[in-house]
Amino acid sequence: MVTTEPAPPAPPGVSRRHVLRGLGAATGVAAVAATGLLSYRAYDAAVLDPGGGDAHAPWRDWRAVPGPLGAVGAAVLAASPHNTQPWRFAVADDAIDVLADPTRGTGSVDPFSRERDVGLGCALENLVLACPPRGLSPTVTLLPGGDPVARVALTPGPAVTHPLYDVIDRRHTDRGPFRATPLAPATLEALSGADPAVHWVVDTAARAALGRLLVDAAEALVADTEQSVDNFAWFRATHDDEERHRDGLVLDGQGFGPLQLGAAKLLPPSSRAEGDRFWVDRTRDVHVATAAAYGVVTTPADTDDRAAHLEAGRLLQRVHLRATSLGIALHPMNQITERLDREATTGTASDLGPRLAALLPAGTRPLLVFRVGVPVRPARPTPRRPVAAVVA
Ligand SMILES: Cc1cc2nc3c(=O)[nH]c(=O)nc-3n(C[C@H](O)[C@H](O)[C@H](O)COP(=O)(O)O)c2cc1C
Repeated sequence: MVTTEPAPPAPPGVSRRHVLRGLGAATGVAAVAATGLLSYRAYDAAVLDPGGGDAHAPWRDWRAVPGPLGAVGAAVLAASPHNTQPWRFAVADDAIDVLADPTRGTGSVDPFSRERDVGLGCALENLVLACPPRGLSPTVTLLPGGDPVARVALTPGPAVTHPLYDVIDRRHTDRGPFRATPLAPATLEALSGADPAVHWVVDTAARAALGRLLVDAAEALVADTEQSVDNFAWFRATHDDEERHRDGLVLDGQGFGPLQLGAAKLLPPSSRAEGDRFWVDRTRDVHVATAAAYGVVTTPADTDDRAAHLEAGRLLQRVHLRATSLGIALHPMNQITERLDREATTGTASDLGPRLAALLPAGTRPLLVFRVGVPVRPARPTPRRPVAAVVA
């Protein structure tokens, strides 16, 4: 995304996509410098301080906060679809309720709120990991029938730290290139914790087939104006937008090298159409081209319900934290399931469903797709709303 997730209006001729692809990043910087505005624009666009600013303060401030509010500080660092952060928390001394925020959806991209509930599961996992270091023993009850979607009861317990807790603030979605280093079966097993809900796609032919599917699904998504517009609504094109919204998809999260990122920030934003094209190109030329393996989180076909989605989120978050602790990059890629949900709501059908099913164990349903690999460079943090903004 510039993923399932694009970009904003630009004067014709000079857009981020044109310059990044056509001229090369260093040339782009030079072109902007020639206008004499480089230093002001660099300051204004926070080129020199990726990961800085108030929008990133939650990554810096959470660890020292004691009690349930400190645990919520860890929860807000979780992954969420399009960085919508679709959560609220009701906090008491003896319990934390996790609630969905119905205003923070992605519309036609997630018509059944499946991805939103997965995101709530991701936050729940961080929340649970962050209780014991604060002397709180958590007991989780999923409440998939309504809101809250989960209650975490808290009782006093020994102050202990889980190794995955330590990497909560180092986990970032990596949309950059991965190295051509294969991942051993034992490594993949360590990532999934041997959970059979994760199906690995490693074999060359199957990987190529899934890669083609991901590109085809991206093409179908951008050809669907409603989905394209709903994606675009969550792209934050400027530093000001990031600081104002503290959510959404940002240039820092696109996996660029430092020069390319600097140029992208200095140049005028792309239009929606250009952002869509950029995403499809990146999907084909970077994401799919360099995936060492794909993981698919599945559920038994007859238990595709909200509880399964919350559990899938907890699992995705754990896999990503394990990957982080092992120095492995992870990138969710959900355009296929987003298209399948869209087809279900519009009464259409393509070959995407059968092609994906052919790569999965019989009797399972795909919930989430992600790629893994050895990163070329570290991924960067993205904005977060502060705890005060999400406590009910
Ligand atoms: C349910 C779910 C679906 C996601 N789907 C995609 C996706 O299709 N493409 C993508 O690039 N990122 C995807 N992401 C990653 C989010 O965009 C990412 O978590 C969010 O922008 C916050 O960034 P962070 O993970 O680096 O903290 C997904 C995350 C979740 C939880």
